[in-house]
Amino acid sequence: MNIKLAVIPGDGIGPEVTEQAQKILDKIAGVYNHKFEYKTLLAGGAAIDAVNNCLPDETIAVCKASDAVLLGAVGGWKWDTLPGDKRPEMALLGLRKELGLFANIRPALLFDELADACPLKREIISSGANGKVELDIVVIRELTGGIYFGEKGFKDTPLGKAAYDVELYAEEEVRRIAVVAFDMAMKRNKKVTSVDKANVLESSRLWRQVVAETAKNYPEVKLENLYIDNAAMQLVRNPRQFDVIVTSNMFGDILSDEASMITGSIGMLPSASLKNGNFGMYEPVHGSAPDIAGQDKANPMAAILSAAMMLRYTFALSKEAEAIERAVKAVLAKSYRTGDIYSEGKTLIGTKEAGDLIAGEIR
Ligand code: IPM
Ligand code: MN
Repeated sequence: MNIKLAVIPGDGIGPEVTEQAQKILDKIAGVYNHKFEYKTLLAGGAAIDAVNNCLPDETIAVCKASDAVLLGAVGGWKWDTLPGDKRPEMALLGLRKELGLFANIRPALLFDELADACPLKREIISSGANGKVELDIVVIRELTGGIYFGEKGFKDTPLGKAAYDVELYAEEEVRRIAVVAFDMAMKRNKKVTSVDKANVLESSRLWRQVVAETAKNYPEVKLENLYIDNAAMQLVRNPRQFDVIVTSNMFGDILSDEASMITGSIGMLPSASLKNGNFGMYEPVHGSAPDIAGQDKANPMAAILSAAMMLRYTFALSKEAEAIERAVKAVLAKSYRTGDIYSEGKTLIGTKEAGDLIAGEIR
């Protein structure tokens, strides 16, 4: 296959981890006879510094003309004092909206090799029968609607100046994300948990109704509804009850951070943001980590696993995706660890070495 990729290294550790992901893709290209053509683009703080605009038009245009987008991370202290609409994070929101990436897929998977990094008690994450550690959840977050993109502004009230952000969901926005969740559940353990606040919010009542209608097309899938507060609690009380979680933009932002943390390995988790069809943007769940940027300390595995997700979802190259996932696991099994997942007795490695070791496992 000949693949045109837009690459947005971004800020902080973004460039370092993205470089390793490209190293792995090049290795895949050699072994499986594909060709990746990269166009490196500016977005986030790097773009603010270079052209005083966090999301240049050219970046959007080249992304649209590419087969998929690989992104590192955006943001950092340096730009923290800019006004809200000028911050590097706006680049992410702009890309999501401009590229129509309404479905955000965030797996929270505990790697057996890293079970000790999980902050939950062993009995909570392992099945009674064989004591095998199991945590394999996918959070499907709606990404281009809700309070993130609703009307916002300021007004005067009897209590003084006030600010507001509107949560609004159209039926069709709910339906299409529900379809993504049910399709995903059909390929997994056939359970969808829809998370809302339907005891309080009108938008959540509509959400719940549309999800229930969509569920009728998936008789094999078990649908459960949870309120967000209960869901946040259940995630630490008994995470093994979850398979696919589907929720709004705001709730998904929060729950996906919580879900990733209970795996103990946020530095390991990839994500995909998809549009109808195959186009998608792929990025690690972790942020730009400015404190360790440029020091060869960052864990590139989330970026590398994001490249694997890209091969699977956008290009249907599951053999190649599995080869990458196997290679990552092999490196972990050989006791190599970057600082974020290091524990005593393991071999501490840097960003580049991690990339080299993983590339070496792909044959
Ligand atoms: C995320 C991030 C973004 C979000 C920020 C950086 C705008 O937290 O991707 O989860 O809130 O969506
Ligand atoms: Mn977030």
